Amino acid sequence: MKKIGILFGQENTFPQAFIDRINQKAPEGIMAEFVKIDQVEQHVAPDYAVIVDRISQDVPFYRAYLKNAALMGTAVINNPFWWSADEKFFNNALAVRLGVPVPKTLLLPSKERPTDTSERSFRNLSMMEWEAAFQHIGFPAYMKPHSGGGWKSVYKLNSPDDFFRAYAETGQLVMLFQESIDFTDYFRCYCIGGTEVLIMPYEPRNEPHLRYATEMKTTGEAGEKLLATMKEYVLKLNEGLGYDFNTVEFAVRDGIPIAIDFGNPAPDADINSVGEQNFEWVVEAAANMAIARAQAQKPGQDNLTWGTFVHPHRAAGHDTHFTVAKPAAAKKPAAKAAPKAAPKAAAAPKKAATAKAPTAKKPKADKAG
Ligand SMILES: Nc1ncnc2c1ncn2[C@@H]1O[C@H](COP(=O)(O)OP(=O)(O)O)[C@@H](O)[C@H]1O
Ligand SMILES: [Mg+2]
Repeated sequence: MKKIGILFGQENTFPQAFIDRINQKAPEGIMAEFVKIDQVEQHVAPDYAVIVDRISQDVPFYRAYLKNAALMGTAVINNPFWWSADEKFFNNALAVRLGVPVPKTLLLPSKERPTDTSERSFRNLSMMEWEAAFQHIGFPAYMKPHSGGGWKSVYKLNSPDDFFRAYAETGQLVMLFQESIDFTDYFRCYCIGGTEVLIMPYEPRNEPHLRYATEMKTTGEAGEKLLATMKEYVLKLNEGLGYDFNTVEFAVRDGIPIAIDFGNPAPDADINSVGEQNFEWVVEAAANMAIARAQAQKPGQDNLTWGTFVHPHRAAGHDTHFTVAKPAAAKKPAAKAAPKAAPKAAAAPKKAATAKAPTAKKPKADKAG
């Protein structure tokens, strides 16, 4: 028996519907249930061939549980390693690389220094040239956390004054400063299993429960072209990032869909916000994907999806060296300021230091499954 589990938080409609759908239609030998977790021990496999994760972004304990599960062969959806690394600034940069339009974006150092750092921790950082940044991005603009979600700490700014007022509230958050896209159409697109795409007209200016109650404004041939372009961009982004279950948002300006938010690996799938039709689509597509992944799952192996950016090979040669460090000479603890040099034993071991630098091999363009 191969088990599919779902791990979830406060949501109430999607998990049960997902489980029920799988249990209605799965071939013999596959069943679904809510994930049960008790004692979690390293290198012990959980009882699941597939786990759909809807909550580990808010529960670090679950994230660690899922990484161990992945090592033991569970196909975790979405990849918990990539999700740990993922953030909006990198995603935007990758979108540029993939040829998907995104708003002009700068990364800002946090307003307040991270805990336990001092001025000395920032000797590499030049002073921000705010005027140049404002010129480049223009107003109106958005400022939002580089790693965030749920519209938390998202600011729309009309002037430098707005900017500094908002920035002062952001504490230790690392923020993006981004061109605002003045849009005629806005869309939210589910992408499941790297192949299934549902494009949903979305009106972010409506109250939350009415955001999906809207229609596409672009019509005729232009509308057809827009839909085809968005589908292409959604697939490209999800292939690059390696997500199995994600939403991509687009703001459309002058007929061009510009990707706004495309790392939402536990996207809203509540019937009360997405509506009955979209809910039916996402339940069916997610159930089909989970069944297919359970069928393909090989116990004890890596059954995760990796983005094409993440190449599973070493960057350089494979020569290995090891040195046993000598005990550090016992020294009186210095009452003075910062030590001048590191103690000898901690210095770079001679052999490794003088060994020939491994020659960089041309990376193979291999693609993980
Ligand atoms: N550059 C932008 N141009 C226009 N609207 C934006 C822009 N960035 C964010 N928004 C608006 O703010 C909302 C929240 O921002 P988003 O990047 O989706 O953050 P979150 O991850 O918190 O959902 C978006 O749904 C969109 O309506
Ligand atoms: Mg969003």
